[in-house]
Amino acid sequence: MQDLAINGGPRAIEGTLPSFRDASGRTLGDEEMKELSDVLKSGSLSFLVGPKTGEFERQFAARYGVSHAVAVSSGTAALHTAVIYLNPEPGDEIILSPITDVGTVIPIISQLAIPVFADVDPNTHNIDPASIERNISTRTRAIIVTHVYGHPADMDAIMAIAKKHNLFVIEDCAQAHLASYKGKLCGTIGNLGCFSFQQSKHMTTGDGGMVISNEDGRFGRGLRHCSDKGWPRERGGRDHLFLAPNYHMTELQAAVGLAQLKKLDRFVKARVDAADRLSALLSGGEVIPVLPLPGTTGVYFFYSFRLDSQRLSRPIPEVMKALTAEGIDGFIGYPGQIPLYRYPLIKEHKTFGSSGLPFTLDGVRKDDFDTELCPVAERACRETICMWWTDRMEDHHLRQIADAIRKVIMAYRN
Ligand SMILES: Cc1ncc(COP(=O)(O)O)c(C=O)c1O
Repeated sequence: MQDLAINGGPRAIEGTLPSFRDASGRTLGDEEMKELSDVLKSGSLSFLVGPKTGEFERQFAARYGVSHAVAVSSGTAALHTAVIYLNPEPGDEIILSPITDVGTVIPIISQLAIPVFADVDPNTHNIDPASIERNISTRTRAIIVTHVYGHPADMDAIMAIAKKHNLFVIEDCAQAHLASYKGKLCGTIGNLGCFSFQQSKHMTTGDGGMVISNEDGRFGRGLRHCSDKGWPRERGGRDHLFLAPNYHMTELQAAVGLAQLKKLDRFVKARVDAADRLSALLSGGEVIPVLPLPGTTGVYFFYSFRLDSQRLSRPIPEVMKALTAEGIDGFIGYPGQIPLYRYPLIKEHKTFGSSGLPFTLDGVRKDDFDTELCPVAERACRETICMWWTDRMEDHHLRQIADAIRKVIMAYRN
């Protein structure tokens, strides 16, 4: 057996793997150039005066088969638009998973609602419907369901709970472009679907986001107005109906988005096919990949896996260091080695000045975020290895990744 790279041996992965960080793992080319050059030549860089943002919204809505799409500046902006649409009272509760990006919780806190963290399923790391149910109170207004790693959450069970308790459901599809649950596209099952086009996502505009829905105006406010200063522009004149930020997407982002959307099916298929091939290469060993639920199509934002730690002589952080030395592009735990509620924003209520709002409001739910609030999520964050994934993984990359993982496991086997 060759020495591990961490001990001075040769790396299992020659060169570097395709990366979302640059052109090695992103497919941006003539189509994006053409769309962008249209915008620049036109001199109209804002959606107020150019056609691309509206066209991007129409095409995105058509691909998902929904009646409304609102383009915004990021995935966080999409989720914030959704929560502004819901218009919670200060102190109302919104349930979410602690295994998600901070962009899922920022909108809740920004609207002075209380984030309530439900635990996750030990296999998929998606929000656990039983834990949602345990956390419902008279103040619960909504559930934000993140389809984490690109794999759909258990939507039948979640929608049944939402129906029973009259809760609004926002799907966080930042990592789940074209993922599907029993034949339905994620983002179209709940009330609203929110997407991110940040650099690492299945399709990218650098930063950017989209909210999709089949409804509008339910809480007395238009979805589009929620990302546009509360401004009903369609009525003409200047009017501001309620507090809302400016989250406009620019025509430059929309131009890239239009070109990327045309390739999205191909990108997603390539990610899934490569992940399936890697799972086949790794099968029968100590690697336990996080797989989509039966009846769903997961779209592999990351390729995530656990290792049977009983059979390893080293702790996971050491294993990760050895994998990195072999050339693996990954990390332990998403969003980090601790769940979301353990970050200062939430645990220490670092919000508005020194007020600690909304956590310090009278009569609101007070969780101690400095404990193992969600034990399954805590463990998932400590033990799961997430590898960055792209649509440009080829067979020789996959073979080298599998070799690297096997090499480290062999060296550190009990
Ligand atoms: C699950 C999830 N939710 C929300 C976000 C926020 O998206 P953005 O980074 O575009 O604001 C991200 C992206 O990082 C994400 O992965």
